[in-house]
Amino acid sequence: MLKKFKTFLEHFFGKQPPAYLSELVGKQATYRFREATTSDIKELLRLEKVIYSGETPWTKSAFLFEFYSKHPHLYLVCELNESLVGFAGIRLFGIDGHITNIAVDPHHQNQGIGTWFMEELIANAKACGCETISLEVRVSNIDAQRFYRHLGFEAKRIKANYYQENGEDGLDMIKQL
Ligand SMILES: CC(C)(COP(=O)(O)OP(=O)(O)OC[C@H]1O[C@@H](n2cnc3c(N)ncnc32)[C@H](O)[C@@H]1OP(=O)(O)O)[C@@H](O)C(=O)NCCC(=O)NCCS
Repeated sequence: MLKKFKTFLEHFFGKQPPAYLSELVGKQATYRFREATTSDIKELLRLEKVIYSGETPWTKSAFLFEFYSKHPHLYLVCELNESLVGFAGIRLFGIDGHITNIAVDPHHQNQGIGTWFMEELIANAKACGCETISLEVRVSNIDAQRFYRHLGFEAKRIKANYYQENGEDGLDMIKQL
């Protein structure tokens, strides 16, 4: 009886154990992937600081804006021992799926986490009828550009002064599905 009540409460307050989508056996550990929720935001901000030298390019309100967007969207996280080590997301605009963010803790890069995120987001966009996937990347972020090229993205055009905080140009990349 008590157990049933607990289960009801957990369901009601959204505290059910998360539904994992997949596991990935990396060089160091086994990672688990699931959809992000608003309860992850505190941990996402911590993770951003690890990845971006103490900066949080996306604030709490930026995450909330995305998670409650009217456009179809999907945000995923990667967990190791209940800590987040990566996240990525996509927002759909008609027949284009736009990768809005992707980042992996430097201690856990080059093990396939980023590729898993991209393949999952792309497969979902395709299933929703998207014909292209787009993204922007800093012109200075050569590693990420190579990563995207290996996934089939092509450079389209430069967006001058795209990144507001330092006026850096953005490179528009696109993949046909
Ligand atoms: C770009 C980024 C998301 C890639 O994430 P990642 O988890 O390192 O990605 P992967 O491990 O899937 O792939 C990275 C490389 O490792 C290689 N790799 C993948 N699995 C591997 C494995 N098991 N063993 C060895 N190498 C592997 C991939 O082939 C890939 O090589 P490539 O870059 O030459 O294509 C990550 O570097 C990152 O967070 N960077 C900082 C934030 C950033 O720049 N975000 C993008 C903003 S536009």
